Amino acid sequence: MMERKFLPEVSTFKCITCKKTYSIASGSIRCSCGGLLEIKHDWTLLSPKKELEYYEHHLSGVWRFKPIIHPSIPDKDIVMRGEGNTGLYNASQRILDYAGCTNLLFKHEGENPTGSFKDRGMTVGISEAKRLGMHTVVCASTGNTSASLAAYASYAGMKATVILPKGKVAFGKLAQALAYGAKVYTVEGTFDLALQQVIDQASKDGRYLLNSINPWRIEGQKTIIFELLENLKWETPDWIVAPAGNLGNTSAFGKALKEAQELELITEIPHLVAVQAKGSEPFVKYWESGKYNPEPNPRTIATAINIGNPVSHSKAFEALKFTNGVATSVSDQSILDAKALIDGAGIGCEPASASTLAGIKKLVDEGTILASEKIVAILTGHLLKDPQIIIDYHQHQLENIQSIYANKINIYDHK
Ligand SMILES: Cc1ncc(COP(=O)(O)O)c(C=O)c1O
Ligand SMILES: [Zn+2]
Repeated sequence: MMERKFLPEVSTFKCITCKKTYSIASGSIRCSCGGLLEIKHDWTLLSPKKELEYYEHHLSGVWRFKPIIHPSIPDKDIVMRGEGNTGLYNASQRILDYAGCTNLLFKHEGENPTGSFKDRGMTVGISEAKRLGMHTVVCASTGNTSASLAAYASYAGMKATVILPKGKVAFGKLAQALAYGAKVYTVEGTFDLALQQVIDQASKDGRYLLNSINPWRIEGQKTIIFELLENLKWETPDWIVAPAGNLGNTSAFGKALKEAQELELITEIPHLVAVQAKGSEPFVKYWESGKYNPEPNPRTIATAINIGNPVSHSKAFEALKFTNGVATSVSDQSILDAKALIDGAGIGCEPASASTLAGIKKLVDEGTILASEKIVAILTGHLLKDPQIIIDYHQHQLENIQSIYANKINIYDHK
């Protein structure tokens, strides 16, 4: 690929495995050794704290943090849809009673333009694609990435191709990818297979890959943490809990906390919790044993985190180590119990997001999280992403699931 010069180059790619560095003008996605790239910003060339004040009133909750995510991108290349600025909600008493804790907030990333946190990474990824002069972008997805990629690509005038695991994507997400005009392919098999195909294809024909393997996605997703800390007046909670699939978020959160500490925005580091679904928990096993083995046949009702070979497992491992965090797994039953309570509190989320509350309950029961500690759960996707599961749950029609909190449809007797 032809190298283009951008000034000033305050950011570089660094391989997390062999430590080789690359210019960001190279447009690289992965190191020649196969390792994941991470973006290093040279804070000595910037005055990030002062510049953050300048961007304070920016309309996008992502680009409001431009000096610490992508300081050198020209404003003309930025493709944004008003992402971020998501709400922070108190848990209801019923939720607190369920989880056994007293201080719990939900940050609702389902309030982003396409209904999931993916928009935070996508606005940065698509802007970078524009800066590099790319015409076609591509991803594999359990659904939300494809919805976000399709929307941002069309808005930027680029072509989008998405590859989805057949029959394993919630309807709301598939509908979005089609509606926003992406070229949609399905493959028989898992998300992991779809991702492998897309990585192979992108490296052959030069399409720009926008899965979370792309380090610019991670830069955008860091803003969930920066915005949360700002919401909390830079006072850190004790725990930040997120669902874990491909582990982009867990990695981004660890990087954000490390950088917030380097920049003296915070002094205490909250513990990160990565929650996987039982049946789809390769990272929990890795965290507990130190040995990484992909799960060839991942299975959970929470389709967004039905991932057996999370691409960012090594970055996420470092994130948990740095924050003295925890990885845990929860059953589909407990995910749907938790979802019914979050939905019933008027907040609502998709199944994967509810794994956070199920995980918190488990860790409080085990004594890992103390009942009085301050906890923030990240709700990653909107309730309407997966309407089918809601209808089936409330009609007692989900196999092997007890609809404990069902709200049945009543027949109106007009006599
Ligand atoms: C709603 C939702 N929650 C969680 C995740 C998992 O995020 P990550 O892959 O960053 O671990 C995804 C990924 O698709 C998602 O769509
Ligand atoms: Zn390398």
